[in-house]
Amino acid sequence: MSHSSSTSARAVGAGALLATRDLLQIADLATHELTQLITLARTVKRKPQSFADAFRQRTLVMLFEKPSLRTRVSFEAGFQRLGGGVSFLDHQATPLGVRESIEDYAHTLERYAHAIVMRVRSHALLTRMAECSAVPVVNALSDLHHPCQALADMLTLIERGFDPVHGHLAWIGDGNNVCHSLVEAVAALGGRITVITPESRAPDSDVMRIALGRAFRTGARIDVAHDPAAVDGAHAVYTDTWVSMGDEADADRQRALLAPFRVDAALMARAAPGAHFMHCLPAHRGEEVADEVIDSPASIVFDQAENRMHAQNALLLALLRPDLARTALAP
Ligand code: CP
Ligand code: NVA
Repeated sequence: MSHSSSTSARAVGAGALLATRDLLQIADLATHELTQLITLARTVKRKPQSFADAFRQRTLVMLFEKPSLRTRVSFEAGFQRLGGGVSFLDHQATPLGVRESIEDYAHTLERYAHAIVMRVRSHALLTRMAECSAVPVVNALSDLHHPCQALADMLTLIERGFDPVHGHLAWIGDGNNVCHSLVEAVAALGGRITVITPESRAPDSDVMRIALGRAFRTGARIDVAHDPAAVDGAHAVYTDTWVSMGDEADADRQRALLAPFRVDAALMARAAPGAHFMHCLPAHRGEEVADEVIDSPASIVFDQAENRMHAQNALLLALLRPDLARTALAP
């Protein structure tokens, strides 16, 4: 049950590692839960053989209403490496809820699946599915959030020596799903993020209000700016596509609006010496990022892509095998 799905009556089972049974957004996680997931991901990445049978006789069902490379393959490869089986349902042509009700869909799948991973057009559908389903629901990207990406990104930054409390992350470009999840992660960890967007593409006001409230408690600093010069001194510079999946009708207007926010060598030179370049991918070279940046030593985009698998395995261990997760986290 997520904070945002308060109508869900499902209780978290005894012995659970996380207070939530679903991961719909990073705000579902307490600060210590987020840090535990990152620690667990590092352990799973370092010693996958210790978890080789963790998902044996377990099935992951994946429902995708939008295209994917990284998310699909990282969930499938990750779950299979730890002994599980995966069933993928392509819902690009037939959106969920059309052939049968969401309730019937959820109650059917929960008889086969141990967890459901969903990529959806509308976050509300994810919330509805989580309310109906007896098994955990994981957000594999919605219009509002991409929590698995943020888990992998925080893991990647920490591996590279970024201090999640004192480091300064700059987001530049479109302030939507990936940006929202990073803002929530920084708010939880007590770090610093500067979100730099055109005014009309600033992050969602509800997401920001909740993140700023959390930041007040954790000591995080979250700034919103509309001038690319605000990357000054950042330890990592992160961008995303200018035209997200589902926004294609507005593509030309978005490209024009976002053109001044391109990450090129001149922009990276404003960041701190040795700053990392980050992108969730897929990248549109020559649009939001220049080749000279994404192909440079500063770029850690393929580490991010790899770490999707380790971070998601850590999350699924915490949800499905809290016994193993607890043992791995024990001092
Ligand atoms: N970063 C990411 O979610 O990539 P895909 O859209 O390819 O899954
Ligand atoms: N903002 C992008 C992220 C892709 C991983 C989109 O929603 O298409």
